[in-house]
Amino acid sequence: MERPELLGTRLFDLTGRVALVTGAGRGLGRTMALALAAAGADVVAMSRTCAEIESLAGEVRGLGRRAVAIAGDVTSEDAVEAIIAEAVAQLGGLDVLVNAAGVNVRKPVLELAYAEYQQVLATNLHGYFLCARAAGRHMVARGRGKVVNVSSVMGRVALPTQAAYASSKGAIEQLTKVLALEWAAANVQVNALAPAYFETELTRPLRDDPERNRFIVERTPMGRWGQPHELAGAVVFLASRASDYVTGQTLLVDGGWTAW
Ligand SMILES: NC(=O)c1ccc[n+]([C@@H]2O[C@H](COP(=O)([O-])OP(=O)(O)OC[C@H]3O[C@@H](n4cnc5c(N)ncnc54)[C@H](OP(=O)(O)O)[C@@H]3O)[C@@H](O)[C@H]2O)c1
Repeated sequence: MERPELLGTRLFDLTGRVALVTGAGRGLGRTMALALAAAGADVVAMSRTCAEIESLAGEVRGLGRRAVAIAGDVTSEDAVEAIIAEAVAQLGGLDVLVNAAGVNVRKPVLELAYAEYQQVLATNLHGYFLCARAAGRHMVARGRGKVVNVSSVMGRVALPTQAAYASSKGAIEQLTKVLALEWAAANVQVNALAPAYFETELTRPLRDDPERNRFIVERTPMGRWGQPHELAGAVVFLASRASDYVTGQTLLVDGGWTAW
Protein backbone atom coordinates (compact mmCIF):
# COMPACT_ATOMS: atom_id res chain seq x y z
CA MET A 1 0.00 0.00 0.00
CA GLU A 2 1.49 3.35 -1.07
CA ARG A 3 1.58 6.14 1.50
CA PRO A 4 -1.13 8.66 0.50
CA GLU A 5 1.13 11.64 1.25
CA LEU A 6 3.46 10.38 -1.47
CA LEU A 7 0.74 10.36 -4.12
CA GLY A 8 -1.35 13.53 -3.86
CA THR A 9 -0.78 17.26 -4.02
CA ARG A 10 1.13 17.14 -0.70
CA LEU A 11 4.02 15.88 -2.80
CA PHE A 12 4.51 19.53 -3.71
CA ASP A 13 4.30 20.80 -0.12
CA LEU A 14 7.47 22.63 0.91
CA THR A 15 6.44 23.38 4.46
CA GLY A 16 9.48 23.36 6.74
CA ARG A 17 11.93 23.49 3.82
CA VAL A 18 14.43 26.32 3.42
CA ALA A 19 15.06 27.58 -0.13
CA LEU A 20 17.84 29.95 -1.13
CA VAL A 21 17.19 31.78 -4.40
CA THR A 22 19.95 33.76 -6.12
CA GLY A 23 18.82 36.62 -8.33
CA ALA A 24 15.72 36.84 -6.16
CA GLY A 25 15.44 40.62 -6.36
CA ARG A 26 13.51 40.78 -9.59
CA GLY A 27 12.40 38.87 -12.66
CA LEU A 28 12.23 35.09 -12.68
CA GLY A 29 14.16 34.66 -9.43
CA ARG A 30 11.70 36.85 -7.59
CA THR A 31 8.67 35.00 -8.95
CA MET A 32 10.22 31.60 -8.25
CA ALA A 33 11.03 32.63 -4.66
CA LEU A 34 7.39 33.64 -4.17
CA ALA A 35 6.21 30.38 -5.74
CA LEU A 36 8.37 28.36 -3.33
CA ALA A 37 7.05 30.41 -0.41
CA ALA A 38 3.47 29.92 -1.59
CA ALA A 39 4.18 26.16 -1.55
CA GLY A 40 5.32 26.46 2.07
CA ALA A 41 9.07 27.15 1.95
CA ASP A 42 11.02 29.61 4.06
CA VAL A 43 13.17 31.75 1.76
CA VAL A 44 16.66 33.19 1.68
CA ALA A 45 16.70 35.91 -0.97
CA MET A 46 20.03 36.84 -2.51
CA SER A 47 21.22 39.38 -5.09
CA ARG A 48 23.42 42.50 -5.08
CA THR A 49 20.60 45.04 -4.63
CA CYS A 50 19.52 45.20 -0.97
CA ALA A 51 16.28 47.12 -1.51
CA GLU A 52 14.96 44.54 -3.99
CA ILE A 53 15.68 41.46 -1.86
CA GLU A 54 14.39 43.21 1.29
CA SER A 55 11.15 43.94 -0.53
CA LEU A 56 10.88 40.30 -1.68
CA ALA A 57 11.59 39.07 1.85
CA GLY A 58 8.76 41.30 3.10
CA GLU A 59 6.38 39.74 0.58
CA VAL A 60 7.42 36.24 1.64
CA ARG A 61 6.77 37.13 5.31
CA GLY A 62 3.37 38.39 4.19
CA LEU A 63 2.66 34.82 3.03
CA GLY A 64 3.40 33.63 6.59
CA ARG A 65 6.85 32.19 5.89
CA ARG A 66 10.22 33.09 7.35
CA ALA A 67 12.48 35.09 5.06
CA VAL A 68 15.90 36.67 5.16
CA ALA A 69 17.58 38.87 2.59
CA ILE A 70 21.35 38.52 2.22
CA ALA A 71 23.08 40.79 -0.27
CA GLY A 72 26.08 39.54 -2.20
CA ASP A 73 27.71 38.84 -5.52
CA VAL A 74 27.63 35.26 -6.85
CA THR A 75 30.95 35.81 -8.62
CA SER A 76 32.78 36.16 -5.28
CA GLU A 77 33.83 32.84 -3.77
CA ASP A 78 34.20 34.35 -0.30
CA ALA A 79 30.81 36.06 -0.47
CA VAL A 80 29.06 32.89 -1.60
CA GLU A 81 30.61 30.77 1.15
CA ALA A 82 29.63 33.38 3.75
CA ILE A 83 26.06 33.70 2.43
CA ILE A 84 25.38 29.95 2.45
CA ALA A 85 26.81 29.69 5.98
CA GLU A 86 24.65 32.62 7.12
CA ALA A 87 21.55 31.15 5.49
CA VAL A 88 22.07 27.83 7.26
CA ALA A 89 22.75 29.60 10.56
CA GLN A 90 19.72 31.93 10.33
CA LEU A 91 17.10 29.46 9.12
CA GLY A 92 18.53 26.25 10.54
CA GLY A 93 19.36 24.45 7.30
CA LEU A 94 19.22 24.55 3.54
CA ASP A 95 17.03 22.20 1.51
CA VAL A 96 16.74 23.91 -1.87
CA LEU A 97 19.07 26.09 -3.93
CA VAL A 98 17.72 27.89 -6.99
CA ASN A 99 20.54 29.37 -9.06
CA ALA A 100 18.85 32.18 -10.99
CA ALA A 101 21.27 35.13 -10.87
CA GLY A 102 22.09 35.87 -14.48
CA VAL A 103 23.18 38.53 -16.95
CA ASN A 104 23.48 38.83 -20.72
CA VAL A 105 25.52 40.92 -23.14
CA ARG A 106 24.03 40.66 -26.64
CA LYS A 107 26.71 41.53 -29.19
CA PRO A 108 28.26 39.93 -32.27
CA VAL A 109 31.51 38.20 -31.33
CA LEU A 110 33.61 40.70 -33.26
CA GLU A 111 32.22 43.47 -31.04
CA LEU A 112 32.22 41.53 -27.77
CA ALA A 113 34.94 42.62 -25.36
CA TYR A 114 36.71 39.84 -23.50
CA ALA A 115 35.73 41.52 -20.23
CA GLU A 116 32.04 41.34 -21.24
CA TYR A 117 32.39 37.67 -22.17
CA GLN A 118 34.08 36.95 -18.85
CA GLN A 119 31.42 38.81 -16.88
CA VAL A 120 28.63 36.70 -18.37
CA LEU A 121 30.51 33.46 -17.75
CA ALA A 122 31.51 34.55 -14.23
CA THR A 123 27.89 35.22 -13.27
CA ASN A 124 25.92 32.61 -15.19
CA LEU A 125 28.33 29.68 -14.91
CA HIS A 126 31.01 30.22 -12.28
CA GLY A 127 28.47 31.77 -9.90
CA TYR A 128 26.24 28.69 -10.30
CA PHE A 129 29.24 26.46 -9.57
CA LEU A 130 30.20 28.42 -6.45
CA CYS A 131 26.66 28.46 -5.05
CA ALA A 132 26.03 24.79 -5.87
CA ARG A 133 29.33 23.73 -4.30
CA ALA A 134 28.71 25.68 -1.09
CA ALA A 135 25.08 24.52 -0.80
CA GLY A 136 25.94 20.97 -1.89
CA ARG A 137 28.53 20.59 0.82
CA HIS A 138 25.76 21.13 3.36
CA MET A 139 23.16 19.03 1.52
CA VAL A 140 25.42 16.03 0.88
CA ALA A 141 26.46 15.92 4.53
CA ARG A 142 22.79 15.99 5.52
CA GLY A 143 21.70 13.39 2.96
CA ARG A 144 18.97 15.49 1.33
CA GLY A 145 18.68 18.43 -1.04
CA LYS A 146 17.52 19.94 -4.32
CA VAL A 147 19.47 22.17 -6.68
CA VAL A 148 17.68 23.92 -9.55
CA ASN A 149 19.94 25.63 -12.08
CA VAL A 150 18.12 28.10 -14.29
CA SER A 151 19.45 27.54 -17.78
CA SER A 152 17.78 28.72 -21.00
CA VAL A 153 16.72 27.46 -24.42
CA MET A 154 20.03 29.08 -25.40
CA GLY A 155 21.66 26.08 -23.74
CA ARG A 156 20.14 23.99 -26.54
CA VAL A 157 19.85 26.26 -29.55
CA ALA A 158 21.91 29.23 -30.71
CA LEU A 159 21.24 32.68 -32.07
CA PRO A 160 23.63 35.39 -33.30
CA THR A 161 24.80 37.82 -30.55
CA GLN A 162 24.52 35.12 -27.85
CA ALA A 163 28.12 33.81 -27.75
CA ALA A 164 28.73 34.43 -24.06
CA TYR A 165 25.18 33.70 -22.87
CA ALA A 166 24.64 30.52 -24.94
CA SER A 167 28.09 29.24 -23.90
CA SER A 168 27.22 29.76 -20.24
CA LYS A 169 23.82 28.10 -20.57
CA GLY A 170 25.12 25.10 -22.52
CA ALA A 171 27.75 24.60 -19.83
CA ILE A 172 25.11 24.81 -17.09
CA GLU A 173 23.43 21.71 -18.52
CA GLN A 174 26.71 19.79 -18.33
CA LEU A 175 27.50 21.12 -14.84
CA THR A 176 24.00 20.01 -13.79
CA LYS A 177 24.60 16.46 -15.03
CA VAL A 178 27.97 16.13 -13.31
CA LEU A 179 26.61 17.43 -10.00
CA ALA A 180 23.62 15.08 -10.33
CA LEU A 181 25.93 12.10 -10.75
CA GLU A 182 28.29 13.07 -7.93
CA TRP A 183 25.47 13.69 -5.45
CA ALA A 184 22.94 11.05 -6.54
CA ALA A 185 23.91 8.57 -3.83
CA ALA A 186 23.64 11.31 -1.22
CA ASN A 187 19.97 11.90 -2.16
CA VAL A 188 20.63 15.39 -3.57
CA GLN A 189 18.83 15.95 -6.87
CA VAL A 190 20.28 18.47 -9.31
CA ASN A 191 18.25 19.60 -12.32
CA ALA A 192 18.11 22.50 -14.74
CA LEU A 193 15.11 24.60 -15.67
CA ALA A 194 15.31 26.12 -19.14
CA PRO A 195 12.89 28.91 -20.02
CA ALA A 196 12.50 30.42 -23.47
CA TYR A 197 11.60 34.12 -23.64
CA PHE A 198 9.93 35.50 -20.50
CA GLU A 199 8.94 39.08 -19.73
CA THR A 200 11.58 40.49 -17.34
CA GLU A 201 14.02 43.41 -17.23
CA LEU A 202 16.67 41.16 -18.81
CA THR A 203 14.59 40.80 -21.96
CA ARG A 204 13.10 44.32 -22.07
CA PRO A 205 15.52 45.44 -24.82
CA LEU A 206 14.16 42.61 -27.00
CA ARG A 207 10.53 43.64 -26.44
CA ASP A 208 11.41 47.27 -27.10
CA ASP A 209 12.88 46.35 -30.50
CA PRO A 210 9.89 45.69 -32.82
CA GLU A 211 11.87 43.46 -35.18
CA ARG A 212 13.28 41.24 -32.41
CA ASN A 213 9.95 41.16 -30.61
CA ARG A 214 8.21 40.00 -33.79
CA PHE A 215 10.86 37.29 -34.33
CA ILE A 216 10.39 35.95 -30.80
CA VAL A 217 6.60 35.89 -30.96
CA GLU A 218 6.58 34.29 -34.42
CA ARG A 219 9.33 31.77 -33.52
CA THR A 220 7.55 30.64 -30.33
CA PRO A 221 4.98 27.95 -31.23
CA MET A 222 2.59 29.28 -28.55
CA GLY A 223 2.85 32.69 -30.23
CA ARG A 224 3.56 34.77 -27.12
CA TRP A 225 6.08 35.61 -24.41
CA GLY A 226 6.14 33.57 -21.20
CA GLN A 227 4.97 35.23 -18.00
CA PRO A 228 7.18 34.70 -14.91
CA HIS A 229 4.38 32.95 -12.98
CA GLU A 230 4.40 30.25 -15.67
CA LEU A 231 7.64 28.92 -14.14
CA ALA A 232 6.03 28.41 -10.73
CA GLY A 233 4.86 24.83 -11.31
CA ALA A 234 8.21 23.73 -12.72
CA VAL A 235 10.31 25.18 -9.91
CA VAL A 236 8.03 23.82 -7.19
CA PHE A 237 8.15 20.39 -8.87
CA LEU A 238 11.96 20.40 -9.00
CA ALA A 239 12.21 21.65 -5.39
CA SER A 240 9.74 19.17 -3.91
CA ARG A 241 9.37 15.47 -3.17
CA ALA A 242 7.46 15.18 -6.45
CA SER A 243 10.83 15.09 -8.25
CA ASP A 244 12.69 12.77 -5.87
CA TYR A 245 13.65 10.30 -8.64
CA VAL A 246 14.44 13.01 -11.23
CA THR A 247 18.05 14.11 -11.44
CA GLY A 248 20.46 15.40 -14.08
CA GLN A 249 17.62 16.59 -16.30
CA THR A 250 16.73 19.86 -17.97
CA LEU A 251 13.06 20.81 -17.86
CA LEU A 252 12.28 23.13 -20.77
CA VAL A 253 9.51 25.63 -20.14
CA ASP A 254 9.53 27.19 -23.56
CA GLY A 255 6.10 27.44 -25.17
CA GLY A 256 7.24 24.74 -27.60
CA TRP A 257 10.38 26.58 -28.79
CA THR A 258 12.66 23.49 -28.80
CA ALA A 259 9.99 21.19 -30.24
CA TRP A 260 10.29 23.16 -33.52
N1 LIG B 1 13.90 36.34 -18.90
C1 LIG B 1 14.06 35.35 -19.76
O1 LIG B 1 13.45 35.32 -20.83
C2 LIG B 1 14.99 34.22 -19.45
C3 LIG B 1 15.00 33.14 -20.32
C4 LIG B 1 15.84 32.07 -20.05
C5 LIG B 1 16.63 32.06 -18.95
N2 LIG B 1 16.61 33.14 -18.12
C6 LIG B 1 17.49 33.09 -16.96
O2 LIG B 1 16.75 33.33 -15.77
C7 LIG B 1 17.58 33.93 -14.79
C8 LIG B 1 16.92 35.21 -14.31
O3 LIG B 1 16.74 36.08 -15.42
P1 LIG B 1 15.75 37.33 -15.37
O4 LIG B 1 15.18 37.46 -16.72
O5 LIG B 1 14.85 37.22 -14.20
O6 LIG B 1 16.81 38.51 -15.18
P2 LIG B 1 16.69 39.90 -14.36
O7 LIG B 1 15.29 40.35 -14.31
O8 LIG B 1 17.71 40.78 -14.99
O9 LIG B 1 17.15 39.51 -12.89
C9 LIG B 1 18.44 39.02 -12.68
C10 LIG B 1 18.68 38.86 -11.20
O10 LIG B 1 20.02 38.36 -11.03
C11 LIG B 1 20.69 39.17 -10.08
N3 LIG B 1 22.13 39.18 -10.36
C12 LIG B 1 22.76 39.50 -11.52
N4 LIG B 1 24.09 39.42 -11.37
C13 LIG B 1 24.31 39.02 -10.08
C14 LIG B 1 25.48 38.77 -9.32
N5 LIG B 1 26.71 38.90 -9.85
N6 LIG B 1 25.33 38.37 -8.03
C15 LIG B 1 24.10 38.24 -7.47
N7 LIG B 1 22.97 38.48 -8.15
C16 LIG B 1 23.07 38.87 -9.44
C17 LIG B 1 20.05 40.55 -10.26
O11 LIG B 1 20.18 41.36 -9.12
P3 LIG B 1 21.35 42.45 -8.90
O12 LIG B 1 21.66 43.04 -10.26
O13 LIG B 1 20.75 43.37 -7.93
O14 LIG B 1 22.50 41.66 -8.35
C18 LIG B 1 18.59 40.16 -10.43
O15 LIG B 1 17.99 39.94 -9.18
C19 LIG B 1 18.94 34.15 -15.48
O16 LIG B 1 19.80 33.08 -15.19
C20 LIG B 1 18.58 34.14 -16.95
O17 LIG B 1 19.66 33.77 -17.76
C21 LIG B 1 15.82 34.23 -18.33
